[in-house]
Amino acid sequence: MKNKTFYVSTPIYYPSNKLHIGHALTTTMADTMARYKKMLGYDVFFLTGSDEHGQKIEKTALAAGMTPLEYTDGIVAHFQELWEKLNIQYNDFIRTTEKRHYDTVATLFQKIYDKGDIYKSEYEGFYCTPCESFYTERQLVDGTCPDCGRTVDVVKEESYFFKMAKYQDRLIEYIESHPNFVQPITRRNEMLSFLKQGLEDLCVSRTTFDWGIPVPIDDDHVIYVWFDALTNYITALDYLNNGENYQKFWVESDEVVHLLAKDIVRFHAIIWPIMLMAADIELPSTVFAHGWLLLDGGKMSKSKGNVVDPMELIAKYGPDPIRYFLLREMPYGEDGYYSEEALILRTNTDLANDYGNLLSRTTSMLDKFFEGVVPSSGDREPIDDELAAMGAELKTSYVRYMEKFEFGRALQEIWKLISRANKYIEETAPWSLAKDESTRSRLRTVIYNLVETIRVSTILIEPFMPETPNKVWEQLGLQDDQMKTWDSITFGTLNSGFKISRGEPIFPRIDPEEALKESLKKAEEAKESAETVKEEGANLIGIEDFFRSDLRVGKVLSAEKVEGADKLLKLSVEVGHENRIIVAGIAQHYTPEQLTGKSIVVVANLKPVKLRGIMSQGMLLAATSPDKKLLSLVTVDGDMPSGSKVG
Ligand code: ME8
Ligand code: MG
Repeated sequence: MKNKTFYVSTPIYYPSNKLHIGHALTTTMADTMARYKKMLGYDVFFLTGSDEHGQKIEKTALAAGMTPLEYTDGIVAHFQELWEKLNIQYNDFIRTTEKRHYDTVATLFQKIYDKGDIYKSEYEGFYCTPCESFYTERQLVDGTCPDCGRTVDVVKEESYFFKMAKYQDRLIEYIESHPNFVQPITRRNEMLSFLKQGLEDLCVSRTTFDWGIPVPIDDDHVIYVWFDALTNYITALDYLNNGENYQKFWVESDEVVHLLAKDIVRFHAIIWPIMLMAADIELPSTVFAHGWLLLDGGKMSKSKGNVVDPMELIAKYGPDPIRYFLLREMPYGEDGYYSEEALILRTNTDLANDYGNLLSRTTSMLDKFFEGVVPSSGDREPIDDELAAMGAELKTSYVRYMEKFEFGRALQEIWKLISRANKYIEETAPWSLAKDESTRSRLRTVIYNLVETIRVSTILIEPFMPETPNKVWEQLGLQDDQMKTWDSITFGTLNSGFKISRGEPIFPRIDPEEALKESLKKAEEAKESAETVKEEGANLIGIEDFFRSDLRVGKVLSAEKVEGADKLLKLSVEVGHENRIIVAGIAQHYTPEQLTGKSIVVVANLKPVKLRGIMSQGMLLAATSPDKKLLSLVTVDGDMPSGSKVG
C-alpha cells in the first residue's frame, strides 16, 4: 500500500535580522507536525527557508556596508545553525536567491501574464518598506502603516497588476466549501469578511529598487516581493520541471499545510490561492495561523529592543524544554506570553516533577524491588483498568488534537496520564506491597503498569521533544525498537524481563533564582553597552568606520547607455592611473554627454559586482531627494587630479 503524504511549510523568514523566539514557535510547530505525521507512517516533506529580496534587505545590507547577498549569506547561516540546535528536521531549505527560485517565479509570472491576468498600469499609493506592503490612502491609519504604525512612502510608478478581483467570488466559494482551508475559524471568518468587502487588483512589480527577480517581459521592473516569496512553496518541490516531489507532495498530496502567524494570513489565504488559481495549480489544504508570542511589554520587535534570542535559551536550557514550553503555553489560535520565569516554571513542574519524577520513582523501585529487571504483570485490580483505559484512550485524543494543530491540548492529554500514574503510585503504595511476599504479584502489576505509562507517553512526546525519548529508553533499558513505535501503543503489549539502567534526572530542577539572576546580569550588561553606544550617539560611527571606504576623485572619460536597461549608464572613469568601468542607475537624470569631463567622487574599494552582464568596478556618490525623483551627482570643485583622496 502507498503511504499517505504530508507537506508542511513555515514562512520563509526575512534575513534582515537574526531570528527570535517568535520565529522558533512556528518552526517548532512545523517540525512537531512533521515528526508526528512521520510517526503515523506518512511520507513527509517539510520546508523552511529565507525570503531575501526587497527594499528592506537592500537597505539593511547597504547600511552594513555589504551587498544584499553577502549580508543574507551571514544571516541565513545563522538561521540554519539555530534550526540545527533546535533539532528541526526539515527536508529542504529554500533561499529565494537561488536560481531554481528565479526560474520558477519568472515562469509563474509569465504563465499568469500570458493568460491575461497580469497587465501594466500606473500605481499611485503608499508603500511600507518594513512590511513590504502597498496601501491606499483609505487604508492608512493617521497617515501611517495600518500594520506596524511606521511612516509610509508615497509611490507613483508604472507597475504590473494582478487581476485579483476577478477571482474573488471563486475564492469565497472555495473557502466556504472547504471548512479546513483557513484555520482557526476566527481567521477564516476574518478572511471571508475581508473578501466580501471586495478585492482590488494587486500591484506585483516595482521600479524603485533592483534587489529582486526581474519581470520576465520587462527588465525595468522587479517582481513584488510577496509574489516572489509565496512561490517558494512550489519552487522547492520542483514545480518548474513538474518534478517527482511536486507531483507527490503538491498535486497528489493527502495534505498540504502552510503554518504561519496571523500577521501574514492574508497573503497566504488570499493572494497565494488566487495566484494558484490563475496558474491552474491545485490549492493547499490548509493555511493555519497561530497568534502572537508576546512579551510582558507587548509585541517583540527589534526596534523595541525586547527580542528574546532562542540561541541563548537553548544554550542555557537545552532544546526540549523550549520546544515544550512554546507548544504547551500557546493557547490555540490566540496570543500567548513568553517569560523566562514561565519557561522555568513549566520545566520544573511538568518536566522535572511530573514526567521526570515518574521515571526516577519507577526506576528506583525497580532497582529496589526487582533488582532492576522489569517484571511481568500479575494480579489485577480495577484501579489498573482505569490507568490502562486512560492509556488506551490517549492515542485517540492525541490524534484528535494534533490533527487540529491543538498542540497544547495534545500535551495536556499526555500529562493527564502522567499525573494519573503519579497518583496511582500513591494509591497503590508499592513500598507497602513490597513488604509482604503475598502481595508480590500485585507489586509486579503496579510496576509493570508504571513502565507501560512511561513507554506510551514517551512515544507520544517524541514529536515535541525529540531528544528526550532516547534518554528515557536508555534509563529503562528498552532495546526493542518495535516497542518505541506508534503501532506498539497498546497498553500492556510490552514484554518483561529486560534490565533498566538508572541515570541522572532527565530534567534536573532549575533554581529559578539562580537562573534569573544570570539573565538579569546579562540584560544589564547589554543595556550598559547599549547606553554607551547611545552616549556616543545612536547612529554615529567611529572615524575608523568612515575610513574603511576609500573615496577618490574620478574623471568621467565617457559614458554610454546600457542595452536593455532604461536606468543604467556605463561610465568609463579615470581614477589616478587606472581606468574603471562603473555602472550606475542615473540614466534618467543625466545624458552621457552631460557626464563626460565631470570630476565625481568614487568609492574605490567596493567589491566589483556584475550588473546586466557588465562588471562594475566601484560606485559613484549621488544625492537623491526623499521622493526619489531628483538625483544629483557629487562633484568636486576646481581642478583636482583624478585619484585624489576624498575625506
Ligand atoms: O513575514 N509570535 O517574514 P518574517 C509568533 N518573509 N510568531 C512570530 C512572531 C511572534 N512574535 N514573530 C515572528 C515574513 N513570527 C515573510 C514571509 S512567507 C511566503 C514570507 C513568525 O521574518 C510567524 O510565523 O517577518 C510570522 O508569520 C513570521 O514569523 C513572520 O516572519
Ligand atoms: Mg514580519
